Amino acid sequence: MQIINSIADLRSYLSSEQEPFKLGLVPTMGALHDGHMSLVSKAVNQNDITVVSIFVNPTQFNNSDDLDKYPRTLEADINLLNKISEDIIVFAPKATEIYPKGLYSNSYDFDGLDKVMEGAFREGHYNGVGTIVEILLNIIEPNKAYFGEKDFQQLQIIRNLVAKQNIPVEIIGCSIVREPNGLARSSRNERLSSEMREKASFIYKTLQISKKKFENMSANKVLKWGKKQFEEHADFELEYLCIADAATLEVVSRKKPNAKYILFIAVYAEDIRLIDNIALN
Ligand code: PAJ
Repeated sequence: MQIINSIADLRSYLSSEQEPFKLGLVPTMGALHDGHMSLVSKAVNQNDITVVSIFVNPTQFNNSDDLDKYPRTLEADINLLNKISEDIIVFAPKATEIYPKGLYSNSYDFDGLDKVMEGAFREGHYNGVGTIVEILLNIIEPNKAYFGEKDFQQLQIIRNLVAKQNIPVEIIGCSIVREPNGLARSSRNERLSSEMREKASFIYKTLQISKKKFENMSANKVLKWGKKQFEEHADFELEYLCIADAATLEVVSRKKPNAKYILFIAVYAEDIRLIDNIALN
C-alpha cells in the first residue's frame, strides 16, 4: 500500500510505471465502510492501478458543525483497503495541498441538476463537490472514476460536469450497499444509537412499499402516502420525499410514459441527516 500526501509524489509515482496501465479513481472522504469498499473492489477488478483519495473537502459542507463532526479514521481506512489489495494507492492530501491559495468553489451550470433535493437544501454543496472532483480528475487523470448511487444526484452531476468540461474519464455508477436491515450504509450511521440504527430500517421499508404502490398509483398519491408514514412516526423528521426523472432530476408529480423515475428521501433521525433512494421502474 502506497500512502501519498502530495500531488508531486503522486504524479512521480504514476509516471514511474514502465508499462501502460489502466487507472481507476475512487474519490472518498474517508471513514470507509462496505459502501465505499464495493466501489474500491470494482475499481481494483477493472483497472491495473487504483487510487483511493481520502479528503474531507471543506468547501462542500454548508454546515461547519457537520464538517467538524465528520469522522477522520485514516488508519482504520488504510487497514480496510489493505484487505482488498495491497496495491492500492491512497492519496490523502491536506487542504493546503489541494487549495494552496485558499479555499474556493467554482460556479458550475449543472443544467438544473443541482437545484432540487440535496442542492436545494445544501447551499453551495454541489459547487464544492464539482470543484474537488474536477481537481482530483485533473491531478490523477484516471481512465475510470467510481461513484455510488447512494448519492444519485451527485453521480448525475459528475456525469454532467465531465461531459461539459470534456474530461476524458468514464464515470462508473455503483449500486447502493445496505446494512442487513436495509439501511443504506453511511458513515453517519455510526452516530445513531444502536436502537435507532435498527429503527432506521423503516426508511428503506417505506421506499420499497412506495415502489410497489407506484405500479398502480399516481406519483402524487405515492408521495402523499409516504409523507404520512413519516408524519406518523415520532422518531423521524422528513426533510424531503420526492419522485424525480432519473436523467434530468426534474421533480415530477405526474408519470410520463418511458421515463425512469427515482424516489429520493432525506430524513433526520436523532438529528442525523440520512439520505436514500430507490429506482421506481
Ligand atoms: P463519500 O461520502 O465518502 O462517498 C464516497 C463515495 O462512496 C461516493 O461516490 C458515494 O456515493 C459512495 N457511497 C457511500 N455510501 C455508499 C453506499 N452505501 N453504497 C454505495 N456507494 C456508497 O461522496 C463523497 O464522499 C464526496 O462528495 C466526494 C465525491 C468524495 C467529493 O468530496
